[in-house]
Amino acid sequence: MALEEVYRRPDDYELETQAREIGDLPFWTGLLQRERPARVLEIGCGCGRLTLPLARLGAAQGFSVTGLEIESAMLRRAEEHARDEAAPTRQALQLAQGDARGLDGALHQLHRLAGAEDSAAFDVILMPYGVAHHFTTPDEQLSVWRGARRWLRAGGLLAVDVTAPDLERLLAGRDAPTPRRLDLEVSCGGRTLRRTVATRYDAATQQETLAYDYHVSEVDGAVRDYRSQFTMRVYFPRELALLFGATGFGMERLLGSYRGEPYRARSPLLLALGRAV
Ligand SMILES: C[S@@+](CC[C@H](N)C(=O)[O-])C[C@H]1O[C@@H](n2cnc3c(N)ncnc32)[C@H](O)[C@@H]1O
Repeated sequence: MALEEVYRRPDDYELETQAREIGDLPFWTGLLQRERPARVLEIGCGCGRLTLPLARLGAAQGFSVTGLEIESAMLRRAEEHARDEAAPTRQALQLAQGDARGLDGALHQLHRLAGAEDSAAFDVILMPYGVAHHFTTPDEQLSVWRGARRWLRAGGLLAVDVTAPDLERLLAGRDAPTPRRLDLEVSCGGRTLRRTVATRYDAATQQETLAYDYHVSEVDGAVRDYRSQFTMRVYFPRELALLFGATGFGMERLLGSYRGEPYRARSPLLLALGRAV
């Protein structure tokens, strides 16, 4: 499994996400309030950064949230957080380990474990905060999108957000890796994380490799240095629309920010909402 090393270190992942003002939660809660689902699936739920607040909303509004995650360390952390939640939130929440590229296997197993009806469909499926970058080939993309379509009821919504392609950045790393630069430095609770990155873009495969070097100082003074390499699929807006169209979705909206602005030439984010037809 060639996933990022940082996903085996949820303390570090949480420190870096806390340091960023991602600001995506109000968008997802607003979307679920409008959709009024009964069942929501979040693919790539990580440590539950979004899953837990969405399950709290579900407990209040009468929907369930299932979080699917491939990396056991991330899932264990989400389970730890879930234990701190009130009983109604825990009841509204299911967490399962599985690979989104084989959604049928992962969800059939989940239903077996829960003793639930196997054909139960979701009303909304979310792939938030760049999860789709991990599906690096067209086969992987098609398998995830087709799986999502099979597990959504007709009229259900698939929502995906990825980083918008930054042509200047991609070009800078096209012929050789970019010079290494500092891209994150954060301290919290006595821990410090410093991260540098060098990027390389392969225009033929639309894959960008980000070689992150982490330097982490722990509360007890211990220091850890490691590399976390991430090969991500770069998505262009029309390609994303085609992917939805080719797998049984009508493209509903293509947004460029969590504030709901339409996608434009310099939008930092590519947020696509497709309705299952
Ligand atoms: C950028 S993180 C986002 C985590 C979480 N959604 C959040 O907003 O903090 C991407 C997550 O997707 C998970 N992931 C990557 N490939 C996956 C796959 N094939 N199936 C399920 N989860 C996957 C990673 O392990 C990681 O936890």
